[in-house]
Amino acid sequence: MAYQVLYRKYRPQSFKDVVGQPQVTLTLQNELQAGRVSHAYLFTGSRGTGKTTCARILSKAVNCLDLQNGDPCLQCEICKGIENGSVMDVVEIDAASNNGVDSIRSLIEEASFTPSKAKYRVYIIDEVHMLSDSAFNALLKTLEEPPEHVVFILGTTEVHRLLPTILSRCQRFDFKRITPIEIAERLKYVCECENVEIEDDAALLIATIADGGMRDALSILDQCIGRSRKVTNEVVRDTAGIVGRDHLFNLCDSIKDKDSTKALEIINELYSNSKDMMKLCSEVSDHLRKLMLIKTMKKPEVLFTVPQDEMVKLNAQAMSMGLAEIINAMDLMRDCLDKMRFANQRIELEMAFVRLCAPEMDTSMDAILRRIEALEKNRPLVTENAVTEIKEKVKEEGLMPKETLPEKKEEPITEESPVSAAPAVSDKERSLIEKAVPFNEWPEVLNKIKEYSRATASAFHNSSAYVSGDYMLIEGSDLAFELLRKGSNKDKVREAIFSVTGRNFRLGPYRAAKAQAKEEENPIDALVRKAKDAGITVTEH
Ligand SMILES: Nc1ncnc2c1ncn2[C@@H]1O[C@H](COP(=O)(O)OP(=O)(O)O)[C@@H](O)[C@H]1O
Ligand SMILES: [Mg+2]
Ligand SMILES: [Zn+2]
Repeated sequence: MAYQVLYRKYRPQSFKDVVGQPQVTLTLQNELQAGRVSHAYLFTGSRGTGKTTCARILSKAVNCLDLQNGDPCLQCEICKGIENGSVMDVVEIDAASNNGVDSIRSLIEEASFTPSKAKYRVYIIDEVHMLSDSAFNALLKTLEEPPEHVVFILGTTEVHRLLPTILSRCQRFDFKRITPIEIAERLKYVCECENVEIEDDAALLIATIADGGMRDALSILDQCIGRSRKVTNEVVRDTAGIVGRDHLFNLCDSIKDKDSTKALEIINELYSNSKDMMKLCSEVSDHLRKLMLIKTMKKPEVLFTVPQDEMVKLNAQAMSMGLAEIINAMDLMRDCLDKMRFANQRIELEMAFVRLCAPEMDTSMDAILRRIEALEKNRPLVTENAVTEIKEKVKEEGLMPKETLPEKKEEPITEESPVSAAPAVSDKERSLIEKAVPFNEWPEVLNKIKEYSRATASAFHNSSAYVSGDYMLIEGSDLAFELLRKGSNKDKVREAIFSVTGRNFRLGPYRAAKAQAKEEENPIDALVRKAKDAGITVTEH
């Protein structure tokens, strides 16, 4: 006999066997017993919580010739016929599959015919939020005036994507995440039937990893049993722990490292191992969500459960990425999932990752925000603290009377003076250069400049730039500085910088060699210089 995966083999056949959803099963049983049948049911809730299972039970129950306590008898010819497919009046449609639309069309055509054997023709439409607009509208018309002998059971994981017009026509049932205890109990029951030993701890660990979904729990158990007929904590850890999620860590690393080659290689490998691309996409989303929660919450573990060693790895990855970067990636993954419905799923996923790994392709406002975030990470600012520190120092050293300590004000070093490539390097300029850090988005700025004037852009050929406080220091040819002296050119350059960084920088030249050439200054000069840099006017002695 062919091996049947556990979650199929142990799909409950009657409401009383469904775990942890009494608000659904008891209600339905009571109504069925009272002879009340709706024309449209909506089952919502996360994956693997029993929606499809209950839809199938219900499809038998409304037609069963010998209802038992609101449960189908599973013995009568109708129950048996539905099960073995000889009674054709129960139709399952997966709206997520490619032929979803066609199925809906033929459904609507045939819905008006009376059922062949059963009392009701039952349409189970899974993942109904995935229907295209046209299919949806067609369905809506039928839902408005359903034929007497038709029952619809709609299933969805994303109820917020359904139109109110659909919601208002259905009797809605919300499936909850199943508690770890309930899942663990079910796992132990399955193991008993399968003649497999399982430790209590191990069952609970699987249950927490499955995060409320029975299907995932049973899949993990399946893999564990594949390794060992004695399921211990250790076995679970090896099977379902980080090992199983390495590719998610690696994919997110590729986003962080802007390494599209690596991302494409990983996707290709998973694809060749027949990984479902949509599933992969939502797994990446899930993983990114965990990173987001870690970055924003003090106790993220209340919102998701992972084994300890995976938490350590997640923490490290969360620390290495910016929040804007993570949220942007989540955005792109969601869009990607949407697009996958109508396109080649693998190509969509590849495109999404190439985009994520090449931010220069992305000129949206969000992208700009991310660049600022990246920039701020690299920029040692003169903080408010540093300013106060220097002020205190100046007071202590008695360099100037307290009452004349002015507020931080702009130094007279202007955009004009340094731009005019003067040979002398002022103290201010030198200290700016000392604090400068390379500005990596300079090529992007040059691209912007090119849009405005190719000539100006070519003058900046081979140039580079540094950020120091609110200055952008440019290292380039004399020709470049010549051009910069013209007000309109300068404005364009500043505009280009603004469009990339979102900040208004003052411009200046970067003259590292000259700055370094200056000899050691004496300590008091250094102090005065620091004070000046901090914007304090110091009376020179
Ligand atoms: N509430 C539940 N009680 C017992 N088993 C369940 C339950 N929910 C899901 N399962 C198991 O998971 C499998 C998939 O469940 P399914 O009903 O298809 O989930 P979905 O909510 O995604 O439609 C079932 O075959 C069954 O083995
Ligand atoms: Mg389902
Ligand atoms: Zn029956």
